[in-house]
Amino acid sequence: MRVHLDAGLCQGHNRCHALAPELFEVDEYGQAVLLGEGDLPDGAHHTARLAAANCPEFAIKILES
Ligand code: F3S
Repeated sequence: MRVHLDAGLCQGHNRCHALAPELFEVDEYGQAVLLGEGDLPDGAHHTARLAAANCPEFAIKILES
């Protein structure tokens, strides 16, 4: 399972970082930055899904492959 961030959709709501700080940072402009390459370590699946479900801009996608 992988997580994908579409930076072009991000509007800086910061929910992803608040819910999953191990997966997302926010840069100096308030835009989300995906940490790592998007591969989800064991135990991060729930928080990744939570972040995706709570992004109002639908900028975060979970890829099942
Ligand atoms: Fe951006 Fe969505 Fe996170 S708008 S800062 S990716 S909650």
